[in-house]
Amino acid sequence: MTIDNKDQLAQLKAIGAICRDVLAAMGARVAPGVTPLELDTMAGEMLAERGATSAPKLAYDFPGFTCISVGDAVAHGVPDDIPLKEGQLVNIDVSAEKDGVFADTGSSFAVGKISPDLQKLLDVTRDAQRKAMFAARAGQPISTVGKVVSREAKKHGLNIIQGLHSHGVGGWIHEEPDIPTIYDPSKRERLKAGQVITVEPFLSTHSKHYFEDDDGWTLRLDKGGFGAQFEHTFVVTNTAPIVVTA
Ligand code: CO
Ligand code: CO
Repeated sequence: MTIDNKDQLAQLKAIGAICRDVLAAMGARVAPGVTPLELDTMAGEMLAERGATSAPKLAYDFPGFTCISVGDAVAHGVPDDIPLKEGQLVNIDVSAEKDGVFADTGSSFAVGKISPDLQKLLDVTRDAQRKAMFAARAGQPISTVGKVVSREAKKHGLNIIQGLHSHGVGGWIHEEPDIPTIYDPSKRERLKAGQVITVEPFLSTHSKHYFEDDDGWTLRLDKGGFGAQFEHTFVVTNTAPIVVTA
């Protein structure tokens, strides 16, 4: 969506804050022995209390309120009752709707103590998200996002998982434009002030590709290892982004 009045911006900020708070509460409970299902149940209760609806349920009939991807699962993981284990990464993606407006955010979290390699993956991915989001100003081509993420991944010897894109959001969970996080010079369309988009790089230690699990939802890394994703929803401006999920 494109923001063209104050009421719309207020609605976007409201759902953005709900997604942020749900993600933060879930992240604070991540620990060895906790199950994704426990986290997701809490998310469902928090969304209901705030008058919001899970976007993956609404748009895709997803079997969970949020996507929780553990281990070699990188996205769209179905919350299950397998306890989290020390040393893993877990990705939680929260997207929801209120008053017809959608926001989308995500983070990867360490389960207990993790290896220095995984800590580096988390730090570099978080940093790449931030740098790409701040580079996504009005007038820049859409390829700017992928250019920045590619530079950061290369600098630190990490892979970008291909095919998992950033996107427009706001009027629905996934909208135009489609924004690759790998550099694609053909993406010359310019970002516009007021446009609501996400930036969500997926970086990994070993894999560049994913495949869909037999459950029909979970996306897993084809060569194993770990992946990480950080995502925010923001309004593009001529200067710094208005981040509604931070
Ligand atoms: Co998301
Ligand atoms: Co998204």
